[in-house]
Amino acid sequence: MTYSRITGTGSFLPEKILTNHDLEKMVETSDQWIKERTGISKRHIAVEGETTCDLAEAAARHALESAGVTASEIDLVIVATTTADKIFPSTACLLQKRLGIHGPAAFDVQAVCSGFIYAITVADKFIRTGSAKKALVVGAETLSRITNWEDRTTCVLFGDGAGAVVLEASEEPGILSTHLHADGNYDELLHVPAGISLDFELVKQGRAYMEMQGNEVFKMAVRTLGRIVDETLVANNMQKSDIDWLVPHQANIRIITATAKKLNMPMERVVVTVNEHGNTSAASVPLALDVAVRDGRIKRGDTLLLEAFGGGFTWGSVLLKF
Ligand code: UT7
Repeated sequence: MTYSRITGTGSFLPEKILTNHDLEKMVETSDQWIKERTGISKRHIAVEGETTCDLAEAAARHALESAGVTASEIDLVIVATTTADKIFPSTACLLQKRLGIHGPAAFDVQAVCSGFIYAITVADKFIRTGSAKKALVVGAETLSRITNWEDRTTCVLFGDGAGAVVLEASEEPGILSTHLHADGNYDELLHVPAGISLDFELVKQGRAYMEMQGNEVFKMAVRTLGRIVDETLVANNMQKSDIDWLVPHQANIRIITATAKKLNMPMERVVVTVNEHGNTSAASVPLALDVAVRDGRIKRGDTLLLEAFGGGFTWGSVLLKF
């Protein structure tokens, strides 16, 4: 049986940092409120001219290097993003060009904060069915471009960044199972209410911003992530104690803590980066993974549960042996 296995990880954050104290000068908020309600202290922000593809490229190069794979060996490129550089071509095609990859399939996946979980699921299926052998899967975002910096209910939450993995065909597991869900009935609780085909005028005026009913999203996220933890364990006939590391989407420390509690998992076994990065949407899970791999916490053979919840609503999980 062929599995797909992560053989390398990488990440990249823009140099510019925006602290809670910086935000105190921009909107009616406080470092204390942001830390208590979200766990966030700072976030990285792309400077003018620094694009999603720039961040994706840097993260991808780190992942390729750590896998010991050259770009020319990659036969599938998937980028999860909500903040593509251009309307088209896809950021995956732009990334392919930067890396000098010619020919294999490249496409973007748009599932907002669950984007990386969706993208790695698709790549896993390509590899399991023999359609690809070495996939580059990236989550990259410049959410700062769709953030309303006058809206305190959203602007304190988000940041920019990218994370990437190289996924290779292997006889050893690997990804054990993936679980994807969506319910489009909740679209207006977390969205940008304009796009190419709807209210394009807002986009042209640079006023197409994220809007969120935070409280409602919070409750749904906690409930839904609790359910997906159960679904993933049952599908693999595993106990909570079989999971070595939880690598969650980094939206809010209180959501992360609730999911850890559901798993009876001490916070020492949970990778937390939300304090340093804020919510980087599709980049958050691969960024957190790379941080914990590089600092030596996550080791080969560990069992990891990756999960995310985001706009759509979309949600999903991946259980894997690292
Ligand atoms: O990644 C995709 C999924 N996204 C998420 O999972 C985010 C989910 N939501 C959340 O993380 C939380 O709901 C927030 C952090 C967004 C908000 O926390 P909350 O505990 O749900 O606060 P709230 O929205 O109920 O607001 C409480 C109060 C309100 O004031 P009143 O009405 O009680 O007087 C807000 O106006 O806090 C006020 N508030 C703020 N105060 C200071 C809202 N934003 C701020 C702020 N600074 N930045």
